[in-house]
Amino acid sequence: MPAKRMQANVPQVPPALDADEAARLAYANDRDLSAHHFQEGEHPIVRIEHLNKAFDDNVVLRDVNLTVWPGEIVVVLGPSGSGKSTMLRCINLLETPTAGHILVNDFEVTGASTADVNKHREKLGMVFQSFNLFPHLTALENVTIGQVKVLKKDKAAAEAEARLQLEAVGLADRADYYPSQLSGGQQQRVAIARAVAMHPDVLLFDEPTSALDPELVRGVLDVMRDLAKNGDMTMIVVTHEMGFARDVADRVVFMEDGVVVEQGLPERVFDHPANERTAAFIGNIQ
Ligand SMILES: Nc1ncnc2c1ncn2[C@@H]1O[C@H](COP(=O)(O)OP(=O)(O)OP(=O)(O)O)[C@@H](O)[C@H]1O
Ligand SMILES: [Mg+2]
Repeated sequence: MPAKRMQANVPQVPPALDADEAARLAYANDRDLSAHHFQEGEHPIVRIEHLNKAFDDNVVLRDVNLTVWPGEIVVVLGPSGSGKSTMLRCINLLETPTAGHILVNDFEVTGASTADVNKHREKLGMVFQSFNLFPHLTALENVTIGQVKVLKKDKAAAEAEARLQLEAVGLADRADYYPSQLSGGQQQRVAIARAVAMHPDVLLFDEPTSALDPELVRGVLDVMRDLAKNGDMTMIVVTHEMGFARDVADRVVFMEDGVVVEQGLPERVFDHPANERTAAFIGNIQ
């Protein structure tokens, strides 16, 4: 029976850690791996404990453990099919983990009620490779609609916020353009403005520049760099842009075959990878 067979594949994992205990362990683990400025007694904003994900028999994430600190910029690297997108999609519960725990601000979202999951999603912004703008709405409307529908802001306040965020991504003069009238790079900057306008706790980026023509990549990376450096936004960024990772990341995480193979400061991972698979991957893309 398929149900029984799938049940047999679910790994047994321990319960989520107590919040203070988790914070202590994460600090001990992460303090040499990240350029994050640790504060006394601080707790991680995202905790991934023993995350496993399988699509039927295809095991895609195996016991992934990762903590992300408030304001930290984490870049995730790894070959195609290593599970990077699946991990991001599990964090905002676009995919349901097979086993394991995801906690945001010490609240466990895995197994939470639908209402709690919706609240959780409001706290996480996601920027996709393919922009995912509404084609029938202008740039301004794209950045406004979530604020009105999800956050229940009034239209004038939402529009004011949208104009501010469009200006921040250099598109104040494109507010009334439709996506089809914008370049890919401009569309992606609208998508970033839309995510930031929701004031999420964490911004997730899934290869935000890999669908762009090379000449448009820099504008998007500049916007992301500004966001990372001029605010307190927490960002988890899947990208192959090494220059960006070196310059902006507090920590680089290398995944392969559903496993976090190694993580650390960008200079350390890029220049002195501890694992030969990391070295081979970095050698190939640099
Ligand atoms: N919805 C799905 N149904 C079935 N299998 C899936 C699904 N999504 C992903 N997978 C499988 O999970 C594995 C990991 O995919 P994932 O998209 O997470 O990799 P990735 O590291 O993001 O790769 P890429 O760099 O190509 O984007 C792949 O084997 C993929 O085929
Ligand atoms: Mg992917």
